[in-house]
Amino acid sequence: MSLDARGDVAVVIPAAGAGVRLGPGAPKALRLLDGEPLLVHAVRRAAAATSVRMIVVAAPPADVDAVRTLLTPVAPVTVVPGGAERQDSVSAALAAVPDDIGIVLVHDAARCLAPSDLFERVAATVRDGAGAVIPTLPVVDTIKEVDAGERVLGTVDRSVLRAVQTPQGFDAALLRAAHAAAADSHTDDAGAVEKIGHHVICVPGSDLALKITRPIDLAVATHLLTLASPG
Ligand code: CTP
Ligand code: MG
Repeated sequence: MSLDARGDVAVVIPAAGAGVRLGPGAPKALRLLDGEPLLVHAVRRAAAATSVRMIVVAAPPADVDAVRTLLTPVAPVTVVPGGAERQDSVSAALAAVPDDIGIVLVHDAARCLAPSDLFERVAATVRDGAGAVIPTLPVVDTIKEVDAGERVLGTVDRSVLRAVQTPQGFDAALLRAAHAAAADSHTDDAGAVEKIGHHVICVPGSDLALKITRPIDLAVATHLLTLASPG
């Protein structure tokens, strides 16, 4: 399968995390879902998005060769060693994206069922002129603000809140500038873009783009695979 000569998009996939909250075992991106590593599911869906020209994976440093071997039959992928924090892994992968690619999507391997059409929706919004785009869902739970003693201070208006997913899409130069300027840690790349004063636009996310964090999420994802087309 060749990704070259297709689109204008590079997908950067941080996949170097340990998966501590999933419990003891292999790094999270290499844990199995329906018999295949999460990373294989994620790369397959990213590669199926027609505007994707290149995929860069930041792998656990000890597993770079194994990840290369694992992904060779799935799609042409560049594999680099990840870093200590997620943002270090994203920076390492971003460094492997050539300057002539104008749009970068950053996508957690842990959101391995995010469908191809979500990649396209995010990329299309960047292409239309938004510098930074995030897929989001409405918040369904009631949210309370609490103090250090777990005493409720108030109820937050959830109509103005959004739960944020990946892939997050960026003008490549804007993302590079945000990463270069990032002094503090940030949990998502849009946060780094916000810090340099740039607007971030929301598009509808997907229930399939849930993040596999705890064992129950693996159980949910296994069930979703029986319901949904691979996307
Ligand atoms: N990630 C990474 N490099 C790190 C830490 C995280 O590339 N040093 C990646 C993970 O592999 C994952 C994504 O960032 O695809 C989101 O991180 P998270 O869901 O927190 O995964 P882990 O860090 O692996 O999980 P945990 O925090 O439970 O250890
Ligand atoms: Mg983590």
